[in-house]
Amino acid sequence: MPANSENYFPGLEGVNVDTTRLSFVDGQKGNLFYCGYSIEDLAEHCNFAEVAYLLLHGELPNQQQIDSFQEELLAERYLDPHLKSIITLTPKDGHPMAVLQALVAQLAMHDKEIADRSLEAKRRKAIRIIAKLPLVVTYFENVRTGMRTVEPRMDLGHAANYLWMLTGEEPTPEAVKVFDTALTLHMDHGCNNSTFTCRVVSSTEADIYSAVVAAIGSLSGPLHGGANERVIHMLESIEELDEVEPFIDAKVASKEKIMGFGHRVYKVMDPRAKILRDLAGKFVVADPEMDKCLKKANLFYKITEERFQAKGKMDIWPNVDFFSGVLYKALGLPRDFFTPVFAISRVVGWVAHHFEQMEDNRIYRPRFIYEGAELGRKFKKMDKRT
Ligand code: SDX
Repeated sequence: MPANSENYFPGLEGVNVDTTRLSFVDGQKGNLFYCGYSIEDLAEHCNFAEVAYLLLHGELPNQQQIDSFQEELLAERYLDPHLKSIITLTPKDGHPMAVLQALVAQLAMHDKEIADRSLEAKRRKAIRIIAKLPLVVTYFENVRTGMRTVEPRMDLGHAANYLWMLTGEEPTPEAVKVFDTALTLHMDHGCNNSTFTCRVVSSTEADIYSAVVAAIGSLSGPLHGGANERVIHMLESIEELDEVEPFIDAKVASKEKIMGFGHRVYKVMDPRAKILRDLAGKFVVADPEMDKCLKKANLFYKITEERFQAKGKMDIWPNVDFFSGVLYKALGLPRDFFTPVFAISRVVGWVAHHFEQMEDNRIYRPRFIYEGAELGRKFKKMDKRT
């Protein structure tokens, strides 16, 4: 075995790769903080723009600061006509996460400041990315469903404008608050895979767009943000409440991973899952179909917990992706939009981490333990190979 084999941490479990001032995940107690504030306080009292400001500046904004931050976001709330035409030409059956990746790369090509590496220019690019990501996916939804293209509104906040552009209908204040809260809950989460990806790419001094494109790819995976879409697919595949238990037993018997459960850091229930479950409980009651979906989710949660506990697995609990889908379904979002919603929120964390990474950057360059063929094998010319 090579000399460095003792420094081997599969999945980098337990390894600290850098420092951050942005968020802290207390996996033992089930707490999450952004810049020292509890996620519960921020979810209850703040909107998207305030929390985004907090992550980008380290402090909650006063009225004047939030007004000017919102102005900056609004000034970027448009898409270049060429980008719109690219979205029109995008295959309608493409996944919106792939559309996001492709269009963020396009945004980079349209950015006149791409070569400007100053901090001020980078900050403007970050605002541009945060403001334009929701437009990309909502335009795509308009185009693929053949509905009229809904233009952004300057009188709406970030969450409300997203819902407006997606449906062409003015969202209710309740829907806006629920969606705003969901966005707040997803904005940052320690050294999660997509944020780590963003920091790894940033550490090469690649531009902020490249880091975000890579992070979107990471987030799309079913073991990461892609789980929320799969949770609702799973719940929808169960028609009646009495089918929940046999469904879970079959999954447990086949040792299949249950989507929306488990976490590398949390040993208790993810605090975001608790808030989303409570929100879903209040928000979906008016609709009988959604009420049934929530009942299925709650029963699924209860029985799955019983099964894990019976097997002595006391640390597997619902994560953020288990209840978010129920809420997004109730808000009328298409299923393949659940992970993009995660992305339009998490992008704030990604760009904030890009700035942190650049403060005291050192390129990420770990090692692999070599397990390949014997070193120094005898080379054979083509005519001697079998
Ligand atoms: C997110 O890290 C973040 O911050 C991510 C995130 C964020 O905000 O960015 O919180 C968002 O990505 C949530 C995770 C979404 N993914 C899923 O819901 C997919 C299902 N869950 C998992 O596959 C899993 O729990 C992970 C990926 C979330 C965590 O993987 P780990 O830490 O590598 O854990 P593991 O797969 O090694 O599991 C440890 C044990 C195993 O049992 P043993 O082999 O030791 O007996 O727990 C079991 C696993 O089989 N286990 C599960 C399970 N999750 C863990 N068994 C069944 N179903 C599950 N969901």
